[in-house]
Parts: sequence; structure tokens; C-alpha cells
Amino acid sequence: MREERPIIALDFPSFEDIKRFLALFPEEEKLYVKIGMELFYGNGPEIVHYVKSHGHSIFLDLKLHDIPNTVQSAMAMLSALDVDMMTVHAAGGVEMMRAAKAGLSKPAKIIAVTQLTSTSEENMRDWQNIQTSLQESVVNYAKCAAEAGLDGVVCSAQEVELIKTATSNDFICLTPGIRPKGSAAGDQKRVMTPYDAHQIGSNYIVVGRPIIQAENPVDMYHKIKEEWNS
Ligand code: C5P
Repeated sequence: MREERPIIALDFPSFEDIKRFLALFPEEEKLYVKIGMELFYGNGPEIVHYVKSHGHSIFLDLKLHDIPNTVQSAMAMLSALDVDMMTVHAAGGVEMMRAAKAGLSKPAKIIAVTQLTSTSEENMRDWQNIQTSLQESVVNYAKCAAEAGLDGVVCSAQEVELIKTATSNDFICLTPGIRPKGSAAGDQKRVMTPYDAHQIGSNYIVVGRPIIQAENPVDMYHKIKEEWNS
């Protein structure tokens, strides 16, 4: 399946900013938004309740990584907030990922982070002592996530085909680093347009700055949504 709404990364520092941003959209427009560590640690479950009360879907991106028992209990608490999708680190292992799924108290999708895009192949070799290519490590982690029964992975659009081939076509590939034609890449190294992300089989796209920093965020969101669904 492919989610028709691009996920908007709510990368704002404060609750007030979120309220202001969401108020730009007509009340009947239901969005899919990403709440990350900064917002959640700064504001707690209240931010989730607020966004949820306006009928939006939530990707709670907290990237859990701990012993299986702890992750299982944490997932029970987080899924009780009634979010739609969450993340764990595949580096926590198959057992941890299984425990994450077992912990769900309400249904939600769980996807795994493989290698962070901030990790270079050299860093991975030196610091994690993984002596394969970065791509092999990403694919290996994706296979582990599939084995654990997770729904998919966060990956760069360039990795989608490889990951689907190694797992299955139903395995979710959620891709950030999306830029509509003509917009600034910012610190993203490898970007792809919404149209190309659709073509290569991404199931979800996450878009932050191109929307939240746009002069008219609502228009930009619709433009990106249209391109993603064309
Ligand atoms: O502003 P931009 O569209 O680059 O934001 C992309 C969002 O996706 C940010 O919240 C960023 O943290 C997140 N992300 C990413 N690359 C990853 C994982 C998450 O850009 N590999």
C-alpha cells in the first residue's frame, strides 16, 4: 500500500509553533505528521493528544533501542497514545524488534531505522566494526526487521528497490530526503522528487523544510501531495 498523504515532519521547537502551523490548514483536512524526539521530549504525550484531537495521523519517530524487555514496556506505553506508526533501531536486534511488536497495546505499524544517514561507510567500519559495504548493512538490517515481523524500514529512496527485493514488495519503505523540483536540498545529500519516489516504490514520503518553511505551507503541501500521487 502507498499512503497518499506525504508525512509532514513537524520539526518545530515549540508546542505553540505546532498549533500555529496546523491552524493554517482547513479543519477538514486531515494530515499525517511526524513527531520526533525533540518535540516529544519537550512536551510529552500532550503533544500527541493535541495532534490526535484534531484528527491527524501520527508517525511517532522516537527510534527505540534498549533491551527487549524495556522496549516492550515502552511500546506498550507509546502505543496506548493511539499513534499510527513508530520506529525502533534495527541494531537492537531481532529479539528486541519482536519484543517491540509484542508490546503494542493498540495496533500501530513499527518500522526500523537501519543505518542512520549520518553514518558514513567509514564511520560504520571504524565505530561499529561492521566490515561490509554500507548498503549491505542496510539490507541486512532490513532483513532482520522483516524476520522480526516489523512492517518496514526507514530508508533513502535510492535503497527502496534493493530492500524490497531482499524482503518483500509489501515491506514498507518510508523515505525522507524528498524535494519537489526547484526546492533547496538543505543538508540532505541525496534527494529525490515526490514523483520519482512514487516511481521507485516508496510507500511513505516524509517532507519537512520544503513544507514547513514555505511561504505558503498549505499550497506547498498540496503541490507535493499532487506530485506524489501523479
Ligand atoms: O526538512 P527535511 O525534509 O529534510 O526533513 C526530513 C525529516 O526526516 C527530518 O525530520 C529528518 O530528521 C528526518 N529523517 C531524515 N533522514 C533519515 C531519517 C529521518 O531526513 N534517514
